[in-house]
Amino acid sequence: MNKFHILTLFPDMVMNGLNTSIIGRAMEAGYLDIQAVNIRDYSTNKHMKVDDYPYGGGAGLVMQPEPIYSAYQDITKNMPRKPRVIYMTPQGCVFHQNMAKELAKEEELIFLCGHYEGVDERVLEEIVTDYVSIGDYVLTGGELPAMVMIDAISRFVPGVLNNDESAGDESFENGLLEYPQYTRPPKFLEKEVPEVLLSGHHENIRKWRQEQSIQRTKERRPDLWEEYQKNTGEQSEK
Ligand code: ADE
Repeated sequence: MNKFHILTLFPDMVMNGLNTSIIGRAMEAGYLDIQAVNIRDYSTNKHMKVDDYPYGGGAGLVMQPEPIYSAYQDITKNMPRKPRVIYMTPQGCVFHQNMAKELAKEEELIFLCGHYEGVDERVLEEIVTDYVSIGDYVLTGGELPAMVMIDAISRFVPGVLNNDESAGDESFENGLLEYPQYTRPPKFLEKEVPEVLLSGHHENIRKWRQEQSIQRTKERRPDLWEEYQKNTGEQSEK
């Protein structure tokens, strides 16, 4: 079982999102334990304040170091080993599938979600081990990025996906995008399901899917296709 702790000012936002669908089912079945910790609960200010004006001036408010540090100490106080602490920030390295696979091997992880103009640098220096971005755009807070990461990581935790859903043929697994999928009805808006998929000929189906994956990757992600060719020595015929 993997345990994720999320330090946030919006615990309901992350828990409502993660309680749904496959991740929710996995929590219920005991494959995942996800706890949101409200940073505001650790404020010592009488108004439960957690942010203040930036030294040196500038726009917005900065999250203060003490409540975050107290929450971190509380979470880790009985742990034999300090877990990795991931700070969600556009200034981090960009998250990808291999990172998700690697992080799934960690028994416990802490995600720190910032808000406003950021977090006081001193507490980051003290507790953060990994700075991670989910892409080159700026969001209003780290909650959605933490949810994105936890969803992608959880798919690699044993038991979370059942056999039908489990990884293998999907996009990125072999360096290519996944082939197109079809289900009933056999005809929709005059479009028929590709004949080979109805043939029952497994080898032909495998070849067709591989060709489709290659075609799709060339068209939609030329950067991935270039990488794939480098790694496999596959020649581009078009
Ligand atoms: N916080 C704000 N924007 C972000 C991003 N793109 N990735 C991770 N955390 C963020």
